[in-house]
Amino acid sequence: MRSQTFLCLFASITGHVSATGILLPLYIYPSQVFNDGAVNWQPARTAMSSHPSVQWLAVINPDSGPGGTRQPGNADTNYITGVSQLNALPNVRTIGYVHTSFSTAPMTELQANITTWKNWATASSNISVDGIFFDETSADFTYLSNATAFARQAFGSRPITVVCNFGTAATAQFYTICDVVVAFESCLNCPDGPPYASQSTISANIPSGKQAQAAILVHDFSGTAHDGSTANAGLLTQYVDTLVGDGVGWCYFTSAGYDTITTAPATVSALAADVASA
Ligand SMILES: *[C@@H]1O[C@H](CO)[C@@H](O)[C@H](O)[C@H]1NC(C)=O
Ligand SMILES: *[C@@H]1O[C@H](CO)[C@@H](O)[C@H](O)[C@H]1NC(C)=O
Ligand SMILES: *[C@@H]1O[C@H](CO)[C@@H](O)[C@H](O)[C@H]1NC(C)=O
Repeated sequence: MRSQTFLCLFASITGHVSATGILLPLYIYPSQVFNDGAVNWQPARTAMSSHPSVQWLAVINPDSGPGGTRQPGNADTNYITGVSQLNALPNVRTIGYVHTSFSTAPMTELQANITTWKNWATASSNISVDGIFFDETSADFTYLSNATAFARQAFGSRPITVVCNFGTAATAQFYTICDVVVAFESCLNCPDGPPYASQSTISANIPSGKQAQAAILVHDFSGTAHDGSTANAGLLTQYVDTLVGDGVGWCYFTSAGYDTITTAPATVSALAADVASA
């Protein structure tokens, strides 16, 4: 008891830094009305600034990519305000969304979108993105290594975070070209995809030794889990504790789809609090 108290005290003095961060698909539009200071992202900003020990990757996605205008911030005041606010937070990296459509997206289109994301750094506000999120990746190593190499070279001297969303288990070789591999993306427990089973999913989907580079994304955290437990705040805490205990690098839970960050129990603020205290 005594030594436990001492350890807790020690941790609070030194400032606990969890090895697990939050990979947030921030797909909701930043604003409710024009130029309102990106109010729709406020709950995320509050969670980020309230838990400075938690690292975040915020995936920005104006329109299944950087947006049709090809201009920085898609020439949209609401995106420009929203992304510059995120860039002002030291524990947040903003990541630009592209999709490979399971290795069928034309490489030239993919590369053009990556170049557009790189050019966000030329805006007068700081809306530079720090990485690329490749969605819908599949096990075509030649295609993906071409795409990731292009991205790193496009950003030049600026080191970027390359995230590859397989949504399912990927072999260890993909961890050599992607900094972060999404090794599971599904609903908690629904007919459309495999259910999330906490430790068994982690063990089955992440190659041994690659936990720190892996991400787990669970949406529709509601109803009952695979084993009949209720999807409540306690289950969220338990799942986060398991991920952190296993040293999984990144996670995300949301109660519905990626169009809400405030629906209980898996709100962005509850998730941040769980990651910070795990
Ligand atoms: C490129 O970005 C545009 C605009 O956001 C989007 O419509 C298109 O689907 C994207 N293509 C790829 C391959 O990312
Ligand atoms: C812009 O924001 C990023 C954080 O994403 C930060 O690393 C960088 O230093 C900022 N650049 C400037 C010029 O302030
Ligand atoms: C990468 O893709 C480009 C565009 O399709 C192509 O010209 C190039 O040969 C590819 N490189 C490799 C190494 O696959």
